[in-house]
Amino acid sequence: MRKQTIPYAKQWVTEDDIHAVCKILSSDFLTTGPVIELFENKLCELTCAKHAIVCSNGTAALHLACMALGMNGNDLGVTSPNSFLASANCIEFCGGKTDFIDIDAASLCMSPDKLETYCREKTVPRVVIPVDFSGLAADLPRIKALSKKYGFAIIEDAAHAIGSTYTFEGKNFACGSCAHSDMAIFSFHPAKTITAGEGGAILTNDNELADKLRTLRTHGMIRNQNLNLSQENAGDEPWYYEMTTLGYNYRITDFQCALGLSQLTRLPQLKARRNQIVIQYNQAFKNNNHLILPPKGLTNEACPHLYPVQLTKGPKSRLAMYNALQERNIHCQIHYIPIYWQPYYANKYGYAKGKCPRAETYYSRTLSLPLYPAMTEAQVQMVIETVLENL
Ligand SMILES: Cc1ncc(COP(=O)(O)O)c(C=O)c1O
Repeated sequence: MRKQTIPYAKQWVTEDDIHAVCKILSSDFLTTGPVIELFENKLCELTCAKHAIVCSNGTAALHLACMALGMNGNDLGVTSPNSFLASANCIEFCGGKTDFIDIDAASLCMSPDKLETYCREKTVPRVVIPVDFSGLAADLPRIKALSKKYGFAIIEDAAHAIGSTYTFEGKNFACGSCAHSDMAIFSFHPAKTITAGEGGAILTNDNELADKLRTLRTHGMIRNQNLNLSQENAGDEPWYYEMTTLGYNYRITDFQCALGLSQLTRLPQLKARRNQIVIQYNQAFKNNNHLILPPKGLTNEACPHLYPVQLTKGPKSRLAMYNALQERNIHCQIHYIPIYWQPYYANKYGYAKGKCPRAETYYSRTLSLPLYPAMTEAQVQMVIETVLENL
């Protein structure tokens, strides 16, 4: 008999989700239809952000956010090296220059101290893209304070962090609220906490940015009934549309949004189960001095997306552990190879090993154990046992 596979992440699609999608498949609208707005409204409700603009994926969301800021070839953007490629590529899509700020060793997110040093001693970027790595909020309030001092824009990459919150001055904020950023983005890839198959969203409290994002999402087109069209006769012609800026087709379909919306109603349940597994892992591994556990904040306020442990016995022990788990059909992942190690960035900018030492040390040790709500108790125990046996 084939052994059951335990992936590092997996969607959880229920009968209700399937019903919600099928309903749309037999409705009048497959792409832009009424569910888009319903999903956007629910995302606003969840985060308390004023606007949500859903789009085809998280990468498109980051690209749209950079475009809405007017990023171009003269602009510099900085992000965390401990992230997926898209957090940096969005700057490159706009022709901008990309640099990386090392992480904080405890939170594994961008270090505000390193960012401040960069602004003071090197240059002030046009945009800073902090990443809520593994579901834990980056230090957004401190980064916001720095933005007031130095004058950069902030795009929170909350692809890992839907459902997560953080506390500042006694108040609770949702990741994606934009209380400490200009815009934030989510991803609805199946590995993430809620999925739309593929999908993304940009959140903002800024009316002007929201208008730009909606226009850029659909080819840069403005229809007759909206805004100030330049043609004199536009008012009489209901079909009239105009393109004043170059946009893309980054739309998402109505049936994807039906899936996202249906999943969103279960977010508290998904968060609770994720937290439960994290607590079980923490409990099982806490007394082992060959393991560094994920950041402390990864329970309670955070809705954990990943469970990254660090193996302190050296890179060989990480590979051995990876292979031992693989042998039992437990498929782990490594999040992340420092982005500037990628030949594209290394060759273009001359970035070399040693640039962000904390991100590199962390990368040399890390392994993300399986974490998804549909994991059974037996699967959680099997992961724990296999890890402990191979330390
Ligand atoms: C931190 C981060 N940002 C952005 C993205 C891009 O999202 P998507 O896969 O929906 O394009 C991902 C996806 O893995 C991610 O992990």
